[in-house]
Amino acid sequence: MSGSNPITEAAVAAVVADALKAIADAGDLAALRSIRQVTVGEQSEISKLNASLKTIDAEFKAAAGAIIGKARGEINAAFAAREVEFAAADERAKLSAETVDVTAVVTRVPFGARHPLSLLQDQISDVFIGMGWEIAEGPELEHEWFNFDALNFDADHPARAMQDTFFVEPVDSHLVLRTHTSPVQVRSLLSRELPVYVLCPGRVFRTDELDATHTPVFHQVEGLAIDKGLTMADLRGTLEHFARIMFGEEAKIRLRPSFFPFTEPSAELDVWHPGAKGGARWVEWGGCGMVNPNVLLAAGIDPEVYQGFAFGMGIERTLMFRNDVRDMHDMVEADVRFSQQFGVNL
Ligand code: DAH
Repeated sequence: MSGSNPITEAAVAAVVADALKAIADAGDLAALRSIRQVTVGEQSEISKLNASLKTIDAEFKAAAGAIIGKARGEINAAFAAREVEFAAADERAKLSAETVDVTAVVTRVPFGARHPLSLLQDQISDVFIGMGWEIAEGPELEHEWFNFDALNFDADHPARAMQDTFFVEPVDSHLVLRTHTSPVQVRSLLSRELPVYVLCPGRVFRTDELDATHTPVFHQVEGLAIDKGLTMADLRGTLEHFARIMFGEEAKIRLRPSFFPFTEPSAELDVWHPGAKGGARWVEWGGCGMVNPNVLLAAGIDPEVYQGFAFGMGIERTLMFRNDVRDMHDMVEADVRFSQQFGVNL
């Protein structure tokens, strides 16, 4: 028997001091938790001392146990106090980061709106669907044959030069960006059973510079009716009905003799626009005529049996005088504020 307690107050005090320093040095909750094992856990010095109680003489056990117990209590208390301190600081930081300023002005996400050209195209389509017509589409990258040849433009016909065409390389591909929606006439005749009543809205391309009244990419709507016994009276009646829905009951139309290779006779179509800004007036609206027999022949149809009429107009132009849009730039710039003036129609 050695006669003294091997676990001295001084040794325990040093262990406590080390642990308290480590706890004090931990800068935040994560750091504190990472030293839990070595300050208060099983691997801590104080736990090791506690474990060594087993090996000391029975007569010193009680005294040593008391010293260690007290030391342990001190370390645990320091650890717990520091933990509470950090948790409170964390909570304060979180609360201040998540503060909601109930007086702040709300940023509203504005509604989008469909483009007025799309709306107008749909309205026009609805007029014809209401008469039992069908909607037809064709490619924007079109073969020259559909864009010109089948529509009775000769290879050296001056009308071919009238169109300011984007030709697509290589030139021997004979592809163009379609200059009008008229090629859909021929495509419709080749792919459908007769009689044919189709409306073809779509995008077309010409080598124009963008200015107040021109744009190199624009939209047209084409109408084609092929049946037995159709006459110019049918063309006139159809266009008048269309004009009244677009421009009001007082609208009327007028046909002026003109020339297009794919119609014979051909006419310019004017519309009496009762609601025009600055007073009712005649406005040039589009072209029309009776389908040239050569177009029917190109589509394999006997012109002695079937006849019909066709018409075409620009959708941008229609929107310009119908809704008093003065500048083409407004239509191509995609500023939602322009579209919103026409309503948020879904
Ligand atoms: N395709 C013609 C153009 O772009 C417009 C046109 C005129 C279409 C007369 C027709 C028509 O269907 O019959 O200028």
